[in-house]
Amino acid sequence: MGFDLSGKRVAVLGVGKMGGILLKALLEKGLLSPKSTFATVQHEDRARALSEKLGVSVGTDNLAAVREADIILVCVKPQVVQEVMEQIRPNVSRKQLIISVAASVPTSQIEKALGEVAVVRAMPNTPCVLGVGMTGLCKGKYADARQVETACALFGVVGKTVVVDEKHMDAVTALSASGPAYIYIILESLAEAGVKVGLPRDVSTLLAAQTTLGAATVVLETGDHPALLKDAVTTPAGCTIDGIMELEEGKLRVTLIKAVVKAAQRAKELAYG
Ligand SMILES: NC(=O)c1ccc[n+]([C@@H]2O[C@H](COP(=O)([O-])OP(=O)(O)OC[C@H]3O[C@@H](n4cnc5c(N)ncnc54)[C@H](OP(=O)(O)O)[C@@H]3O)[C@@H](O)[C@H]2O)c1
Repeated sequence: MGFDLSGKRVAVLGVGKMGGILLKALLEKGLLSPKSTFATVQHEDRARALSEKLGVSVGTDNLAAVREADIILVCVKPQVVQEVMEQIRPNVSRKQLIISVAASVPTSQIEKALGEVAVVRAMPNTPCVLGVGMTGLCKGKYADARQVETACALFGVVGKTVVVDEKHMDAVTALSASGPAYIYIILESLAEAGVKVGLPRDVSTLLAAQTTLGAATVVLETGDHPALLKDAVTTPAGCTIDGIMELEEGKLRVTLIKAVVKAAQRAKELAYG
Protein backbone atom coordinates (compact mmCIF):
# COMPACT_ATOMS: atom_id res chain seq x y z
CA MET A 1 0.00 0.00 0.00
CA GLY A 2 1.37 3.40 -0.98
CA PHE A 3 -0.23 5.27 1.86
CA ASP A 4 -0.14 4.06 5.43
CA LEU A 5 -1.39 5.73 8.57
CA SER A 6 -0.95 2.70 10.79
CA GLY A 7 1.93 4.29 12.67
CA LYS A 8 -0.09 7.45 13.22
CA ARG A 9 -2.45 8.28 16.00
CA VAL A 10 -5.81 9.37 14.58
CA ALA A 11 -8.77 10.91 16.40
CA VAL A 12 -12.19 10.81 14.76
CA LEU A 13 -14.58 13.25 16.41
CA GLY A 14 -18.17 12.32 15.57
CA VAL A 15 -18.96 8.83 14.30
CA GLY A 16 -22.38 9.38 12.74
CA LYS A 17 -23.24 8.72 9.10
CA MET A 18 -20.13 10.29 7.52
CA GLY A 19 -17.67 9.70 10.38
CA GLY A 20 -18.89 6.08 10.53
CA ILE A 21 -18.44 5.53 6.79
CA LEU A 22 -14.91 6.96 6.85
CA LEU A 23 -13.78 5.26 10.06
CA LYS A 24 -15.12 1.86 9.01
CA ALA A 25 -13.60 2.09 5.53
CA LEU A 26 -10.19 3.24 6.78
CA LEU A 27 -10.11 0.43 9.37
CA GLU A 28 -11.27 -2.20 6.87
CA LYS A 29 -8.63 -1.16 4.35
CA GLY A 30 -6.00 -1.44 7.09
CA LEU A 31 -5.07 2.20 6.78
CA LEU A 32 -5.70 2.90 10.45
CA SER A 33 -4.46 0.71 13.20
CA PRO A 34 -7.24 0.05 15.77
CA LYS A 35 -4.92 0.62 18.72
CA SER A 36 -3.95 4.11 17.51
CA THR A 37 -7.50 5.17 16.62
CA PHE A 38 -9.59 7.15 19.09
CA ALA A 39 -13.14 8.15 18.24
CA THR A 40 -15.84 10.12 20.01
CA VAL A 41 -19.61 10.53 19.84
CA GLN A 42 -22.06 12.48 21.95
CA HIS A 43 -23.90 9.62 23.68
CA GLU A 44 -22.28 7.11 26.07
CA ASP A 45 -24.45 4.20 24.90
CA ARG A 46 -23.54 4.87 21.24
CA ALA A 47 -19.88 5.00 22.25
CA ARG A 48 -20.08 1.59 23.89
CA ALA A 49 -21.92 0.01 20.97
CA LEU A 50 -19.54 1.49 18.39
CA SER A 51 -16.48 0.49 20.35
CA GLU A 52 -17.66 -3.12 20.36
CA LYS A 53 -18.65 -3.03 16.69
CA LEU A 54 -15.51 -1.37 15.33
CA GLY A 55 -12.92 -2.69 17.80
CA VAL A 56 -11.49 0.78 18.50
CA SER A 57 -11.63 3.11 21.48
CA VAL A 58 -14.83 5.19 21.27
CA GLY A 59 -15.68 7.62 24.05
CA THR A 60 -17.34 10.97 24.64
CA ASP A 61 -14.27 12.95 25.73
CA ASN A 62 -12.99 14.96 22.75
CA LEU A 63 -10.10 16.49 24.66
CA ALA A 64 -8.75 13.06 25.66
CA ALA A 65 -9.25 11.64 22.15
CA VAL A 66 -7.05 14.25 20.47
CA ARG A 67 -4.17 14.01 22.97
CA GLU A 68 -1.00 13.34 20.93
CA ALA A 69 -3.07 12.62 17.81
CA ASP A 70 -1.23 13.14 14.52
CA ILE A 71 -4.48 13.62 12.60
CA ILE A 72 -7.80 14.89 13.96
CA LEU A 73 -10.75 14.11 11.71
CA VAL A 74 -13.71 16.34 12.58
CA CYS A 75 -17.01 14.71 11.58
CA VAL A 76 -19.55 16.45 13.84
CA LYS A 77 -22.41 18.59 12.53
CA PRO A 78 -21.43 22.09 11.41
CA GLN A 79 -23.31 23.72 14.31
CA VAL A 80 -21.26 21.69 16.82
CA VAL A 81 -17.81 22.36 15.35
CA GLN A 82 -17.13 25.56 17.32
CA GLU A 83 -17.98 23.93 20.65
CA VAL A 84 -15.83 20.88 19.88
CA MET A 85 -12.88 23.06 18.78
CA GLU A 86 -13.06 24.95 22.07
CA GLN A 87 -13.04 21.65 23.97
CA ILE A 88 -9.97 20.25 22.21
CA ARG A 89 -7.92 23.45 22.09
CA PRO A 90 -5.73 22.62 25.15
CA ASN A 91 -4.49 19.41 23.47
CA VAL A 92 -3.96 20.84 19.98
CA SER A 93 -0.47 21.64 18.79
CA ARG A 94 1.14 22.84 15.56
CA LYS A 95 2.34 19.40 14.52
CA GLN A 96 -1.18 18.06 14.17
CA LEU A 97 -3.30 18.02 11.04
CA ILE A 98 -6.98 18.87 11.42
CA ILE A 99 -9.26 17.53 8.68
CA SER A 100 -12.84 18.77 8.86
CA VAL A 101 -15.69 17.35 6.79
CA ALA A 102 -18.21 19.80 8.23
CA ALA A 103 -20.23 21.53 5.53
CA SER A 104 -20.11 25.29 5.55
CA VAL A 105 -17.45 25.71 8.26
CA PRO A 106 -14.51 27.72 6.83
CA THR A 107 -10.94 26.74 7.66
CA SER A 108 -10.52 30.25 9.12
CA GLN A 109 -13.13 29.50 11.81
CA ILE A 110 -11.17 26.44 12.93
CA GLU A 111 -7.86 28.34 12.78
CA LYS A 112 -9.39 31.12 14.84
CA ALA A 113 -10.55 28.63 17.45
CA LEU A 114 -7.32 26.58 17.59
CA GLY A 115 -4.52 28.95 16.62
CA GLU A 116 -1.96 28.47 13.85
CA VAL A 117 -2.70 24.82 13.02
CA ALA A 118 -2.83 23.00 9.70
CA VAL A 119 -6.44 22.61 8.57
CA VAL A 120 -7.74 20.81 5.52
CA ARG A 121 -11.44 21.06 4.76
CA ALA A 122 -12.92 18.08 2.94
CA MET A 123 -16.34 17.40 1.51
CA PRO A 124 -16.90 13.69 0.89
CA ASN A 125 -20.16 11.95 -0.08
CA THR A 126 -21.96 8.82 1.08
CA PRO A 127 -20.83 6.53 -1.81
CA CYS A 128 -17.50 6.54 0.07
CA VAL A 129 -19.13 3.61 1.89
CA LEU A 130 -18.31 1.39 -1.13
CA GLY A 131 -15.08 3.11 -2.13
CA VAL A 132 -16.76 5.04 -4.97
CA GLY A 133 -17.05 8.39 -3.23
CA MET A 134 -16.13 11.86 -4.40
CA THR A 135 -14.34 14.25 -2.08
CA GLY A 136 -13.51 17.89 -2.73
CA LEU A 137 -10.71 19.29 -0.55
CA CYS A 138 -9.15 22.65 0.13
CA LYS A 139 -6.36 23.87 2.39
CA GLY A 140 -6.40 26.38 5.17
CA LYS A 141 -3.81 29.09 5.75
CA TYR A 142 -1.29 26.96 7.66
CA ALA A 143 -1.57 23.59 5.86
CA ASP A 144 1.28 22.74 3.50
CA ALA A 145 1.22 20.72 0.26
CA ARG A 146 2.31 17.53 2.03
CA GLN A 147 -0.59 17.79 4.45
CA VAL A 148 -3.05 18.30 1.60
CA GLU A 149 -1.53 15.20 -0.02
CA THR A 150 -2.03 13.25 3.19
CA ALA A 151 -5.70 14.28 3.28
CA CYS A 152 -6.12 13.41 -0.41
CA ALA A 153 -4.54 10.00 0.18
CA LEU A 154 -6.88 9.39 3.10
CA PHE A 155 -10.00 10.18 1.07
CA GLY A 156 -8.47 8.47 -1.96
CA VAL A 157 -9.02 5.20 -0.10
CA VAL A 158 -12.78 5.72 -0.38
CA GLY A 159 -13.06 7.23 -3.86
CA LYS A 160 -11.85 10.05 -6.08
CA THR A 161 -10.53 13.37 -4.79
CA VAL A 162 -10.19 16.86 -6.21
CA VAL A 163 -8.47 19.88 -4.65
CA VAL A 164 -10.29 23.20 -5.10
CA ASP A 165 -10.04 26.74 -3.76
CA GLU A 166 -11.97 27.20 -0.55
CA LYS A 167 -14.37 29.61 -2.28
CA HIS A 168 -15.72 26.61 -4.22
CA MET A 169 -16.41 24.37 -1.22
CA ASP A 170 -20.09 25.32 -0.87
CA ALA A 171 -20.55 24.52 -4.55
CA VAL A 172 -18.84 21.13 -4.05
CA THR A 173 -21.15 20.53 -1.09
CA ALA A 174 -24.22 21.30 -3.20
CA LEU A 175 -23.11 19.23 -6.19
CA SER A 176 -21.24 16.12 -5.07
CA ALA A 177 -22.07 15.86 -1.35
CA SER A 178 -25.83 16.44 -1.82
CA GLY A 179 -25.69 14.92 -5.32
CA PRO A 180 -26.28 11.27 -4.37
CA ALA A 181 -29.74 12.30 -3.08
CA TYR A 182 -30.60 13.87 -6.46
CA ILE A 183 -29.36 10.82 -8.34
CA TYR A 184 -31.33 8.45 -6.07
CA ILE A 185 -34.48 10.41 -6.88
CA ILE A 186 -33.70 10.16 -10.59
CA LEU A 187 -33.01 6.44 -10.25
CA GLU A 188 -36.19 5.88 -8.28
CA SER A 189 -38.16 7.77 -10.94
CA LEU A 190 -36.61 5.80 -13.81
CA ALA A 191 -37.35 2.55 -11.99
CA GLU A 192 -40.94 3.73 -11.47
CA ALA A 193 -41.11 4.55 -15.18
CA GLY A 194 -39.99 1.01 -16.03
CA VAL A 195 -42.80 -0.32 -13.85
CA LYS A 196 -45.26 1.98 -15.66
CA VAL A 197 -44.23 0.47 -19.02
CA GLY A 198 -44.62 -3.06 -17.70
CA LEU A 199 -41.25 -4.15 -16.27
CA PRO A 200 -40.93 -5.98 -12.95
CA ARG A 201 -39.59 -3.55 -10.31
CA ASP A 202 -36.32 -5.43 -9.69
CA VAL A 203 -35.52 -5.56 -13.41
CA SER A 204 -36.48 -1.91 -13.76
CA THR A 205 -34.24 -0.82 -10.85
CA LEU A 206 -31.33 -2.85 -12.25
CA LEU A 207 -31.75 -1.27 -15.70
CA ALA A 208 -31.91 2.24 -14.23
CA ALA A 209 -28.93 1.82 -11.87
CA GLN A 210 -26.60 0.06 -14.32
CA THR A 211 -27.49 2.61 -17.03
CA THR A 212 -26.62 5.46 -14.66
CA LEU A 213 -23.36 3.77 -13.69
CA GLY A 214 -22.54 3.04 -17.33
CA ALA A 215 -23.21 6.59 -18.51
CA ALA A 216 -21.16 8.06 -15.65
CA THR A 217 -18.30 5.64 -16.32
CA VAL A 218 -18.21 6.62 -20.01
CA VAL A 219 -18.04 10.34 -19.07
CA LEU A 220 -15.21 9.67 -16.60
CA GLU A 221 -13.21 7.36 -18.83
CA THR A 222 -13.54 9.10 -22.20
CA GLY A 223 -13.59 12.68 -20.93
CA ASP A 224 -16.09 13.34 -23.75
CA HIS A 225 -18.64 16.11 -23.30
CA PRO A 226 -21.95 14.65 -22.05
CA ALA A 227 -23.81 16.46 -24.85
CA LEU A 228 -21.78 14.59 -27.51
CA LEU A 229 -22.38 11.29 -25.75
CA LYS A 230 -26.11 12.08 -25.63
CA ASP A 231 -26.10 12.82 -29.36
CA ALA A 232 -24.65 9.36 -30.03
CA VAL A 233 -27.70 7.79 -28.35
CA THR A 234 -30.18 10.01 -30.16
CA THR A 235 -31.03 8.50 -33.57
CA PRO A 236 -32.88 10.88 -35.91
CA ALA A 237 -36.62 10.28 -35.60
CA GLY A 238 -35.89 7.51 -33.07
CA CYS A 239 -37.31 6.94 -29.59
CA THR A 240 -34.71 8.82 -27.52
CA ILE A 241 -35.51 12.22 -29.01
CA ASP A 242 -39.15 11.78 -28.02
CA GLY A 243 -38.01 11.04 -24.46
CA ILE A 244 -35.69 14.06 -24.49
CA MET A 245 -38.55 16.32 -25.62
CA GLU A 246 -40.48 15.29 -22.50
CA LEU A 247 -37.44 16.01 -20.30
CA GLU A 248 -37.09 19.46 -21.87
CA GLU A 249 -40.78 20.20 -21.43
CA GLY A 250 -40.53 19.08 -17.79
CA LYS A 251 -37.56 21.46 -17.37
CA LEU A 252 -35.25 18.75 -16.03
CA ARG A 253 -32.09 20.73 -16.78
CA VAL A 254 -33.14 23.98 -15.17
CA THR A 255 -34.60 22.09 -12.21
CA LEU A 256 -31.28 20.36 -11.54
CA ILE A 257 -29.39 23.64 -11.91
CA LYS A 258 -31.76 25.35 -9.49
CA ALA A 259 -31.43 22.47 -7.02
CA VAL A 260 -27.65 22.88 -6.89
CA VAL A 261 -27.90 26.69 -6.66
CA LYS A 262 -30.33 26.45 -3.71
CA ALA A 263 -28.25 23.81 -1.93
CA ALA A 264 -25.11 25.95 -2.37
CA GLN A 265 -26.92 28.94 -0.84
CA ARG A 266 -27.97 26.80 2.11
CA ALA A 267 -24.42 25.45 2.45
CA LYS A 268 -23.22 28.99 3.13
CA GLU A 269 -25.50 29.28 6.16
CA LEU A 270 -25.29 25.84 7.79
CA ALA A 271 -22.54 26.55 10.28
CA TYR A 272 -24.67 29.35 11.69
CA GLY A 273 -27.72 27.19 12.46
N1 LIG B 1 -24.04 12.80 5.51
C1 LIG B 1 -23.41 13.24 4.41
O1 LIG B 1 -23.71 12.85 3.28
C2 LIG B 1 -22.24 14.20 4.55
C3 LIG B 1 -21.46 14.48 3.42
C4 LIG B 1 -20.36 15.33 3.56
C5 LIG B 1 -20.08 15.93 4.77
N2 LIG B 1 -20.89 15.66 5.83
C6 LIG B 1 -20.57 16.34 7.09
O2 LIG B 1 -20.32 15.37 8.07
C7 LIG B 1 -20.66 15.90 9.35
C8 LIG B 1 -21.51 14.88 10.08
O3 LIG B 1 -22.71 14.67 9.34
P1 LIG B 1 -23.50 13.30 9.50
O4 LIG B 1 -24.49 13.27 8.40
O5 LIG B 1 -22.54 12.17 9.67
O6 LIG B 1 -24.24 13.60 10.91
P2 LIG B 1 -24.70 12.59 12.05
O7 LIG B 1 -25.02 11.25 11.46
O8 LIG B 1 -25.74 13.30 12.85
O9 LIG B 1 -23.39 12.41 12.97
C9 LIG B 1 -22.94 13.35 13.89
C10 LIG B 1 -22.08 12.62 14.90
O10 LIG B 1 -21.50 13.58 15.76
C11 LIG B 1 -21.60 13.10 17.10
N3 LIG B 1 -21.55 14.24 18.01
C12 LIG B 1 -22.48 15.20 18.26
N4 LIG B 1 -22.02 16.08 19.18
C13 LIG B 1 -20.76 15.67 19.50
C14 LIG B 1 -19.76 16.15 20.37
N5 LIG B 1 -19.96 17.25 21.10
N6 LIG B 1 -18.60 15.48 20.44
C15 LIG B 1 -18.36 14.37 19.70
N7 LIG B 1 -19.27 13.85 18.85
C16 LIG B 1 -20.45 14.50 18.76
C17 LIG B 1 -22.90 12.36 17.14
O11 LIG B 1 -22.89 11.50 18.28
P3 LIG B 1 -24.07 10.45 18.60
O12 LIG B 1 -23.86 9.35 17.60
O13 LIG B 1 -23.82 10.02 20.00
O14 LIG B 1 -25.36 11.19 18.41
C18 LIG B 1 -22.83 11.63 15.80
O15 LIG B 1 -22.08 10.45 15.93
C19 LIG B 1 -21.41 17.21 9.12
O16 LIG B 1 -20.58 18.29 9.45
C20 LIG B 1 -21.72 17.19 7.64
O17 LIG B 1 -21.70 18.50 7.09
C21 LIG B 1 -21.94 14.80 5.77
